[in-house]
Amino acid sequence: MSQLTTGLGIDIGGSGIKGAPVDLATGDFLKERKKILTPEHSTLDTVAAIVREIAEYFPEASKAPVGVTFPGVVQQGVVRTSANLDKHWIGTDARVLFSEAVGRPVRVLNDADAAGVAESRRGAAKGVPGVVLVTTLGTGIGSALLVNGRLVPNTEFGHLEVDGHDAETRASAAAKNREGLSYEEWATERLQRYYRVVEDLLWPNLIVVGGGVSRQGHRFLPLLDIRTPIVAAELRNTAGIVGAALAAAEQESI
Ligand code: BGC
Repeated sequence: MSQLTTGLGIDIGGSGIKGAPVDLATGDFLKERKKILTPEHSTLDTVAAIVREIAEYFPEASKAPVGVTFPGVVQQGVVRTSANLDKHWIGTDARVLFSEAVGRPVRVLNDADAAGVAESRRGAAKGVPGVVLVTTLGTGIGSALLVNGRLVPNTEFGHLEVDGHDAETRASAAAKNREGLSYEEWATERLQRYYRVVEDLLWPNLIVVGGGVSRQGHRFLPLLDIRTPIVAAELRNTAGIVGAALAAAEQESI
């Protein structure tokens, strides 16, 4: 088997679709990422065309394994949920759609799972044994559960019911912004309760907090009174792309 050095990661989000070639050994981008805004009424075909455009933008990665993230449950390439993107994705075989778009096999996985793989291989959870929970705080709350570095795919701990509410509607970064909460209010009134419930159910050894807001981790993580060590993600907004590329390469070597 030839040694893979480059992977291509593409991250589909509610506001942008972003991709970059990734050095699989270091997790670094080999070129500046390319971002295209997600169309407001994104049909399957328009998103597939953007995925193709991003893949073609990086000819140096034309033979690299491709990983694409999706912000919902993805089982064997088929989208099962779409909480924050158009519902018409549900039931779509995204693996077939994107593989046809880029002209070679593509691995499709949940966006938070990709971030979890990235943090586990190249970031804050690198080398951490036992159970690690990575949560991404953004429009929704995404989760990735790793056991000794192995991903348990498609956990949806952002949708735990907490005090009668779907957790992400109260504790996501979008909820903070929507309700104009300060970091302190968000931490003590929302995140505190959320992470207590999560740690009581999972007893993880470490919780990693990702999503764009994790850059401000020093403003809210120290306010949390929970038993589990909790740290900011290291890869921040590159985690989805890096994790997608790593996951695609790992699948190839199976
Ligand atoms: C979705 C998850 C996704 C998360 C972050 C949630 O609403 O259900 O699958 O990982 O948002 O995008």
